Amino acid sequence: MPAKPLVIALPKGRISQEVAPLLKRVGIVPEQAFFDDEARQLQFACEGGDVALIRVRSFDVATFVAFGAAHMGVCGSDVLAEFDYPDIYAPLDLDIGHCRLSLAQPEQMAPADDMARASHVRVATKYPNVTRQYFAEKGIQAECIKLSGAIELAPALGLAGRIVDLVSSGSTLRANGLVEAQTIMKVSSRLIVGRTAFKTRSLEVSGWIERFREAVHAG
Ligand code: PRP
Repeated sequence: MPAKPLVIALPKGRISQEVAPLLKRVGIVPEQAFFDDEARQLQFACEGGDVALIRVRSFDVATFVAFGAAHMGVCGSDVLAEFDYPDIYAPLDLDIGHCRLSLAQPEQMAPADDMARASHVRVATKYPNVTRQYFAEKGIQAECIKLSGAIELAPALGLAGRIVDLVSSGSTLRANGLVEAQTIMKVSSRLIVGRTAFKTRSLEVSGWIERFREAVHAG
């Protein structure tokens, strides 16, 4: 029996609602504070003591796991694409957190602004690497303005003509006078494992991957 629990990093925010039923099916029962939105606690013990949960920003899940600070995590495929960490394995699509990463622009942007004729665009985004690569494949150089949130504000205030951001219902785009120009990638949440955890705690890790796999199929 290992001395320390296996640490699983979970993302904050709207994905939490989809993660909770999955944990239940897997048989992970966190302490009550985990379900309390007012709680400031970031680390949670679980029944049985073999697993502990931490709650961090979605981008930071990958960082905690890549550096071995957490053994496993739940991480969007958008984040994995942006960072492309070699030390992270993503063995399982959890079939939650479905949304898409899209290029969006003001609805009144003239067709003359068609990208086919552009050699350079300015884009506000949390995803500069994915964005640069997406435009590079079209032979366009993307100048990315990195933001951490409220990306949809950028075109109206002249920070950038276009944005690349997550779209789920599309209501944030609509509320800010933007339309989707193109889907760059479909996104869902993945179970991720750090390379070190895979080597040093392989039996436990494989056991949890199997339990998550069964829980996804039972969902
Ligand atoms: C995400 C994303 C968009 C919004 C899209 O932000 O960055 O702003 O959701 O969802 P919709 O299409 O259903 O409107 P989130 O609310 O997760 O907060 P964040 O800006 O902190 O990432």
